[in-house]
Amino acid sequence: MLVSAKDMLNKAREGKYAVGQFNINNLEWTKAVLLTAQENNSPVILGVSEGAGKYMGGYKTIVGMVNGMIEELKITVPVALHLDHGSYEGALKCIEAGFSSVMFDGSHYPIEENIAKTTELVKITSEKGLSLEAEVGSIGGEEDGVVGAGEIADANECKTIADLGVTMLAAGIGNIHGQYPANWKGLAFDALEDINRVTGTTPLVLHGGTGIPEEMIKKAISLGVAKINVNTECQLSFAAATRKYVEEGKDLQGKGFDPRKLLAPGFEAIKATVKEKMELFGSIGQA
Ligand code: 13P
Repeated sequence: MLVSAKDMLNKAREGKYAVGQFNINNLEWTKAVLLTAQENNSPVILGVSEGAGKYMGGYKTIVGMVNGMIEELKITVPVALHLDHGSYEGALKCIEAGFSSVMFDGSHYPIEENIAKTTELVKITSEKGLSLEAEVGSIGGEEDGVVGAGEIADANECKTIADLGVTMLAAGIGNIHGQYPANWKGLAFDALEDINRVTGTTPLVLHGGTGIPEEMIKKAISLGVAKINVNTECQLSFAAATRKYVEEGKDLQGKGFDPRKLLAPGFEAIKATVKEKMELFGSIGQA
């Protein structure tokens, strides 16, 4: 059964570790993340962006697939199915479809509108026992070759949004999606300290988990980060393993073209990346 991310994240914040959110793209991805969580007795959050939702055939398809796998693969660790960077309408659709957690990313709205929409979603999600992630200060990243630096969230705005009663809060601290440029300045720990001080015990979320050095991840966890999102790193390891298989000509040997064989190295590569992250985040054995 899917669960809200609330208990797992409060426990993580208290215990000074973080739960990974791993974005899923298809059946292989989902199975790899769920099995790795189960094998390592770790709680886990499956992230679905609106684009990935469309790609996989809609939110209801995903809910059916994930619930089916939890039952048939005998997954007993806590699993939350979470909308990543959702719009207001997207969040409502996922709630309707059976997601156990949603993110409303109102960071691109004026703060008043972010507050108004987040307030409505706090009401809806808390009535249904679902978790809600809000965002202040947009996360940068590469889009069409332009690299954004990633905003630093204003601590007072973070406090205002946290006080609305959201389950967890994503705050921009110089983190970006995708790979970090060579001249990246690193995470803004002064800002994170301020945000952590004013937001009480609200678990903080670190987006853009790919490529952040280990010491920075550990320091961020010590300053209230209890959820870390990873997407690109699984994509890179899946692609590298698949490339190797094809370049070695294995798809041309025997039944090597069978998708169950062709996608197997990529599947194993995702499992290895997820396990590595769970070790780094400290969530192993915490289910
Ligand atoms: P990366 O793709 O950089 O790992 O970021 C993932 C993320 O933050 C999803 O919200």
